[in-house]
Amino acid sequence: MARDDHRQVNTKVIEVSDSVALAKAAAERVMARIAANGDRVAICLTGGSSPKQLYQLFATDAFRSRIPWDRVHWFIGDERFVPADDPLNNMGMARQIFLDRWAPASNIHPIPTDTADPDKAARRYENELQTFYGAAQLDPARPLFDVVLMGVGPDGHTASLFPDYPAIEATGRWVVGVPQAHVEPFVPRVTLTLPALNSCREMLFEVAGSEKRAILTRVLDGENLPANRARSTGETIWLVDTAALPEHFRGR
Ligand code: 6PG
Repeated sequence: MARDDHRQVNTKVIEVSDSVALAKAAAERVMARIAANGDRVAICLTGGSSPKQLYQLFATDAFRSRIPWDRVHWFIGDERFVPADDPLNNMGMARQIFLDRWAPASNIHPIPTDTADPDKAARRYENELQTFYGAAQLDPARPLFDVVLMGVGPDGHTASLFPDYPAIEATGRWVVGVPQAHVEPFVPRVTLTLPALNSCREMLFEVAGSEKRAILTRVLDGENLPANRARSTGETIWLVDTAALPEHFRGR
C-alpha cells in the first residue's frame, strides 16, 4: 500500500500560534457553522483534553450569548464506558464545563453508560441518532452533523476508532461498542463509526503541543491511520498549533 493512499484530500491544515489561539479559532469555526444553518444544528463533541479550552470558551459571556441554545443539539463522538458522573466520562466533562449551564437538557445527547454493556449502549445511541436524523440511512446530501470535533491520540486513533480494531471497518452501523481500549484510559468504549462521523458539513481536528508532533507527522505523511480515514463529506480542517506542527509544514 502506498503511504500516499491515505493522504487527506479536501483537507486544510491551519496553523495557529498556541492552544489559546487554537481554542478561539475552533470556537469561531463552530459559530460560523451555527450561523450558516438557520434551522436545527447538530454538533458532535469529542473527549480527551484537547477540547477543554474550547468548551471553556463556550461558557464565557462572549460566546454563550452568541449561541442560539434552543436550536443547537450536542452529541458526543465517543464515550468511555464509565458512569455519567465519572471524571473520565467525555460528555460529563462537556456538561460540567458548559452544557449543563446553558443547553436545554433535551438538547444534550449523551451516550448512555448505564446499560449492561457497550454494545447495548451503542444500539441505544444509534437509535437516538437515527430518530434525530429521521432515517436509518445516511443521505450524502443531508449530513447528520453540522460540525464534528475530533482529536488524535498517540497511536493515530480518533474518537474510539483504534488502529486495526474491527470498529474502524464498521460500515453497516452508526455506533459500535469497543470492548477494550488501545491506549489509556483502558476502559471499554462506545464510538461512532466512520460513516456516521464523516457525515458532517465540517470535521474539525484540534491538535496542540509538541507531544503531538510525532503522530501528526505520520498523519500528514498520509499513513493509514484512523485519524486519516476520518474525513468529512464536506470540509475537513486540522487546526494545529505551531508546537505540534512538523517543521516542514510550518508557515505554509
Ligand atoms: C477519548 C477521545 C479520543 C481523544 C484523543 C485525543 O475518549 O479519549 O475522544 O479520541 O480525542 O485520544 O486525546 P487528547 O485530547 O487528550 O490528546
